[in-house]
Amino acid sequence: MPSRLKSLIQISDLTLKQVNGLFSLAEARRIKKQETKMQKISKNPIALIFFESSTRTRMSFEMASKKMGLDTILLDGKNGSSLEKGETLEDTVLNISAMDPACLVIRSNESLDMVQMQKKISQPIINAGWGSRGHPTQALLDIYTLSQKRKRFDKEKLLIVGDIRHSRVASSHFELAKILNYKVGICGPQEFLPTQVQSHVKVFKKLSEGLEWCTSVMALRVQWERHKTKYSLSDYREEFGIHKNHAKKMTKDQWILHPGPVNKNVELDEEVFWDKKSLILEQVKNGVIIRRALLRAVLEGFL
Ligand code: CP
Repeated sequence: MPSRLKSLIQISDLTLKQVNGLFSLAEARRIKKQETKMQKISKNPIALIFFESSTRTRMSFEMASKKMGLDTILLDGKNGSSLEKGETLEDTVLNISAMDPACLVIRSNESLDMVQMQKKISQPIINAGWGSRGHPTQALLDIYTLSQKRKRFDKEKLLIVGDIRHSRVASSHFELAKILNYKVGICGPQEFLPTQVQSHVKVFKKLSEGLEWCTSVMALRVQWERHKTKYSLSDYREEFGIHKNHAKKMTKDQWILHPGPVNKNVELDEEVFWDKKSLILEQVKNGVIIRRALLRAVLEGFL
């Protein structure tokens, strides 16, 4: 019997074997070794509960579900739901769970405790972005994207640039790096860096030093809505933006990533977005593949 993944709330829910299992499922799907079964793997729909805005994650879970013949139900923000009447996030999730979906894909701020929530409901929860605590499917799809370029991670040095303090993507990479044994560096204005940095994370004051060290660089969206910063867009771009000149100097196997949404000409130049080394749209494409693999691992089990 293939073992099922119970839920995915934090990267630390996964073992190395399970990460490799997910990547194998994804790879089998990508190169079409494994055809989609015609029968539905679940009669019950997937509940997509997005308390916060999303384009890539929401649409890719929806795309993944539809490609597998799974129905979806969607709660998309506050509008039109009883959140407008003051119902809490927790009660909203409890009530949707009572309708018995196959699993719940949730994007939320940290006021919902997904770990405690999982103890109150029987269906699996998949974290689709949880405050700054984690975005496990994003980190998985980032590394899956790099794995198509090189097979080993132990030499990978991923530099994450920008708003690390508020980044759930960075949080998940700090955890995934421990499982897959790649190195992580961070770089950004002091006020964007975490107050405490884990010992396995390298800190670079200057972007040029980080770029010399890394084998791949990931720019993050500056979450201006969360900052009272002294940085202006142009200061940030000048010091921490990835410019076309940086891209030119990078070797042909140094890759550029961004989880999106991209503030073009802030975190990276428009030309860098389109550069041959940019994997940004590959990441989006692989987002569907990884989420498809994850839904299968949760609903049916690993290969
Ligand atoms: N990368 C990411 O989570 O994008 P969305 O916010 O559009 O889902």
